[in-house]
Amino acid sequence: MAQEILQKNDQVCSGRAVPSVAQAMNHHKASILWLPVGTKWRKLRKICKEQMSTIHHLDAKNCLGKLQDYLQECSNRGRAVDICEIGFKTSLNLLSSTFFSVDLAHLNSSSTQEMMEKVQVLIKNLGTPNLADYIPLVKLIDPQGLKHKTEVSLRRLLEILDRTLNPRFQSRGISTGSPRKKDLLEALLDFNQEDDSDFSLDDIKHLLIVSGVRLAKCGWLTLGGDVKRLDGWPLVKSVEHDRVMVMVVLFCGWRSWWFCFVGGGHGGFTGSNHGGFTDSSHGGVTGGVHGGLGGDEHVAADTITDSVQWTMAELLRNPEKMSKVKDELSSIIAENKQVEESDISRLSYLNAVIKETFRCHPAVPFLIPHKAETDITINGYIIPKNAQILVNVWAIGRDSRIWSNPDSFEPERFLDGKIDYKGHDFELITFGSGRRICPGMLLAHLMVHLMVATLIHNFNWKLEPGIEPEQLDMNEMYGISLHKAVPLKASPVKH
Ligand code: HEM
Repeated sequence: MAQEILQKNDQVCSGRAVPSVAQAMNHHKASILWLPVGTKWRKLRKICKEQMSTIHHLDAKNCLGKLQDYLQECSNRGRAVDICEIGFKTSLNLLSSTFFSVDLAHLNSSSTQEMMEKVQVLIKNLGTPNLADYIPLVKLIDPQGLKHKTEVSLRRLLEILDRTLNPRFQSRGISTGSPRKKDLLEALLDFNQEDDSDFSLDDIKHLLIVSGVRLAKCGWLTLGGDVKRLDGWPLVKSVEHDRVMVMVVLFCGWRSWWFCFVGGGHGGFTGSNHGGFTDSSHGGVTGGVHGGLGGDEHVAADTITDSVQWTMAELLRNPEKMSKVKDELSSIIAENKQVEESDISRLSYLNAVIKETFRCHPAVPFLIPHKAETDITINGYIIPKNAQILVNVWAIGRDSRIWSNPDSFEPERFLDGKIDYKGHDFELITFGSGRRICPGMLLAHLMVHLMVATLIHNFNWKLEPGIEPEQLDMNEMYGISLHKAVPLKASPVKH
């Protein structure tokens, strides 16, 4: 079913429904994420793709060096590290140095605190159910004030970006004698100056906010998972079709909305006993601890951070897998030497570990909702124009008909290299597939590998006192993205 939607009917199913909050300060008009498939979207994707595939821009050495120094300092002081926090700051530095050649975050300072807080507000607002999205008549009055609050945070983030970017804007066209930078910002400035371009300097800032702080994970409906609650909802119909669970939720109102959840049968929403999407304490569509359709209370860690955190948690919970990763790293990279991009392709066990993490804990569990551009029939189901389509990547990863022991962490299943996450193998579509596939995939692949390898090479990791590996809390807090409910803290010990 996922293949039908993302491959065979890709063209019709590639739209996006823009929530009211994403329209704050016209954000949606500059964001690849919300733009409809068209000329501007194509041009921006092309620029991003070119920039992100030329990964030599990635100033990994500097950023990872800082990470390593910070770990060393924590090791000397016997201090535990919040993996989520260092993951966020390191990703932000890697991304900002790649995109506009500056470091935004300092690992051991509070200078990024405000930025993180503003991003938190955006993520929370964008993930909160908003009446304005369901009752168009109240859209103008913004009854929950979500759009207004988003505007306040967005404006502050744009001011922070202004401070960083204005010198670049101003020096453009002035000969400084130094060579032109070859980063994403420069490519966007070129686009802005093309004769027929409708891409303004403000658009550039909005776009960098999306890519840099990963608004990509914001603004979609947060659909919680307890199937009993789903079935209990009067407007829900659930059918088993061709060994694929399709849940069609019909919301009748001023206009008709359909949400299709596409995923594996057993896994699905009813899935595992693993603290996964079935954990009723997390609330379902009708509400709950984290607010059901919305209410994402987590810190603003991005998809990279989530992936790094889940990988470390799985390795700490499975010490024998951790030893295998360490052995591989020390057989390829000399002691005390920093991990480099060129090492990544030789780290096949680490690669299998990361694929297994993506299978078990996909950072974007429903992809970003697609929208049907016209009425379409798929596998006998009529999907009306404007229906939102959610692909349940989490359930596909936990489907026992695809994977043996789906709830066990077994990187060995990927060692033969047959399955990859580049969008061709529908068992593992962590980054999506088709024309809306994540344009940051290559960069993300590199960043996750580099960060995990840097954390593990040269350091042993100790869980907090009193916590045994098998007791590590692996509960998921799912919403717009899949977070670890309890942030991972562990102490690095230099060996
Ligand atoms: C582990 C890290 C990441 C994961 C798992 C991930 C996953 C995804 C997924 C599943 C989608 C939606 C695909 C769809 O709707 O079919 C997406 C879209 C997107 N991602 Fe990523 N992503 C990651 C990192 C990144 C990074 C580092 C960037 C940029 C620097 C990025 C930029 C984007 C953008 C701009 C879109 C929207 C594309 C569009 O709508 O055309 N992502 N990502």
